[in-house]
Amino acid sequence: MSREAAARSVVSFVPATIANVGPGFDVLGLALDGAGDQVCARISDSRSGGQVTIASIEGCGGRLPLEAEENTAGIAAIHTLRRAGLDTRVELEITKGLPIGSGLGGSAASAVAAAFAVNLLVGSPLRKEELIEPCIEAEAAVAGRHADNVAPALLGGLILVRSTDPLDLVRVPLPGGLRVVVVTPAHELNTRDAREALPGSVPLATMVRQSAQLAALVSACYSGDLELLSESLVDPVVTPVRLELVPGGREAVDAAQGAGALGASLSGSGPSVFAICHSSAVAQKVAGCMQAAFLNAGLESKVLISSADNPGARRVR
Ligand code: HSE
Repeated sequence: MSREAAARSVVSFVPATIANVGPGFDVLGLALDGAGDQVCARISDSRSGGQVTIASIEGCGGRLPLEAEENTAGIAAIHTLRRAGLDTRVELEITKGLPIGSGLGGSAASAVAAAFAVNLLVGSPLRKEELIEPCIEAEAAVAGRHADNVAPALLGGLILVRSTDPLDLVRVPLPGGLRVVVVTPAHELNTRDAREALPGSVPLATMVRQSAQLAALVSACYSGDLELLSESLVDPVVTPVRLELVPGGREAVDAAQGAGALGASLSGSGPSVFAICHSSAVAQKVAGCMQAAFLNAGLESKVLISSADNPGARRVR
């Protein structure tokens, strides 16, 4: 080991994220308070296996790989140590709080939690922002190269990913007092499949409309203009295609709007649907109506009523 370890073990927590946030496909993501993944990283004395080993994964019913090279937490840990130039051997224990294939950024949360914990474990050789690249490598291996989950998961709040290479992130303020409802139906949708369903190109007129929506959304976030925010959450490109893949998805979006939400759309690649509301009372009503829409399509669902998670990745022990 080329550097003194800062601790024998570190436990980190990383929040769920809503990627895309309407028209911001692959460029906008919001961290959510109240749900997330946890990773314990400890120095390993074992000489067998690779540099990073995964001792256990709780909360996924045995469905995620224990091989570090095939698991987003393992891949992120390997790339973090590589980037730091360290040969330290590390063991991970992963506790999944986020369901697999739900659109809540579960693969990103595990990757960020591992990168964050491992970096602290070895004495913080990397700045927080430098952990993004190892996490993007992890996402690329399982779901596609995008940072709109890993960036807000790590940094908290609402983040605009202007570029991943070179990395260029912009923190966008979210108007105060908003509540975010996320309804997750009992229907898994793999991000890779949901990306493959998308068109390879869009007509210029659609591109113009989509750019205007994203610009309006960011502007509304800065100005606090909730009417503009409401209108600009509509995505003309990606969401209409993907809602076809989610039974009851379109109806849940419509139900949210009918019940008073400012706007609603798919969370990441789905199947979760989120709605932004201006009060807790409206959020409760919206959640019920969205659940009823999914039930009509034959799907039970779970609800998270939340707000922005501003700290992002943090140490819990
Ligand atoms: N921007 C990505 C997508 C997020 O929509 O495919 C996946 O969580």
